[in-house]
Amino acid sequence: MILEIENLKTYYRIEKGVVKANDGISLSIKENEVVGLAGESGCGKSTLIRTIIRLVPQSAQVTADKMTFMDQDILAMPEKEFREKILWQGIALVPQSAMNALNPVYRVGDQCTEAIKAHTDYGKAECEQIVKRLFDAVGLQAGMMKAYPHEFSGGMRQRAMIAMSLLLNPALVIMDEPTTGLDVLVQERILRNIKEIRQKSKSAVSILLITHDISVIAEMSDRIGIMYAGRLMESAESMALFNEPYHPYTLGLKNAFPSIKAIDRELISIPGSPPNLLEDIPGCLFAFRCPFVIPECEKTRPPDLEIKPGHMVHCIRTDHVEEFRKLAGDKKTWQSSKSAT
Ligand SMILES: Nc1ncnc2c1ncn2[C@@H]1O[C@H](COP(=O)(O)OP(=O)(O)O)[C@@H](O)[C@H]1O
Ligand SMILES: [Mg+2]
Repeated sequence: MILEIENLKTYYRIEKGVVKANDGISLSIKENEVVGLAGESGCGKSTLIRTIIRLVPQSAQVTADKMTFMDQDILAMPEKEFREKILWQGIALVPQSAMNALNPVYRVGDQCTEAIKAHTDYGKAECEQIVKRLFDAVGLQAGMMKAYPHEFSGGMRQRAMIAMSLLLNPALVIMDEPTTGLDVLVQERILRNIKEIRQKSKSAVSILLITHDISVIAEMSDRIGIMYAGRLMESAESMALFNEPYHPYTLGLKNAFPSIKAIDRELISIPGSPPNLLEDIPGCLFAFRCPFVIPECEKTRPPDLEIKPGHMVHCIRTDHVEEFRKLAGDKKTWQSSKSAT
């Protein structure tokens, strides 16, 4: 196991109350695994990343039953130790806005070699070799090492950031919405390249890929988690999640995005919007948008059911899933939910 998280809660305290941005997230990532996390904007994806790499504000309350990176307790670890030992060398981040992450006054290649020099005792030539190899891997020409950030297009900057994240050979790379602004084919190529890099290098690289677009991660992830309102609604191996989804929210999300396999299928969006995370809602947070809701759903929080080995579902109605799967493809089903009427 590279990363193990159990029952993580990250609550922001604001004037109006407590925002439960992550409310009991459990997630694990194995060596060499690509794990995708999908969910609508505001469901707590960036909060999860920021919690892992210690970027949440001091005022936030973070608790977990377990949070380890390669068996080291990164929840209890002092800040300084985390920055020196884990960040970049162990866990690297490709931030959501790659646009602003590069320093405009330095050549991109120099920024990369400086980053390696700061953490290793490699010589100039070795550093440049590493940068060149990674540029090549993400599809940037070696000549671009001499260019300044403004000479890069948005997509090229994104790729430069991915190359930079890999400079120190981290065991885990976290990508926050790398698809934003890039087309799917470019995305796919980059991820394929990363897979090649990790196959070539002796050390494995695991990837946590965060996105609001479920169809993108379907293609690239070994396992997928579906987030909603600070909780994980369902997680499973990609194939299982797409071929045999259990949670009504997953069924809804699948309808709402174009799939590469059925391009001309009509897209059906889920009526309504996620709950206010300031509110204390006792039951399932998806209940008021769910077309299959029963009174029971709104009473208590559903348990995380392991429906099959490695397939977790946060829903009490999984025994009716055959029926739900049939109904979910019909627009009328969704128009009947509480939030639609
Ligand atoms: N620093 C913060 N203080 C208070 N609330 C925050 C803070 N950061 C994020 N939030 C809230 O937490 C929730 C989750 O946000 P975020 O993690 O950014 O979601 P996502 O990345 O999925 O869009 C949102 O309701 C957001 O408004
Ligand atoms: Mg975000």
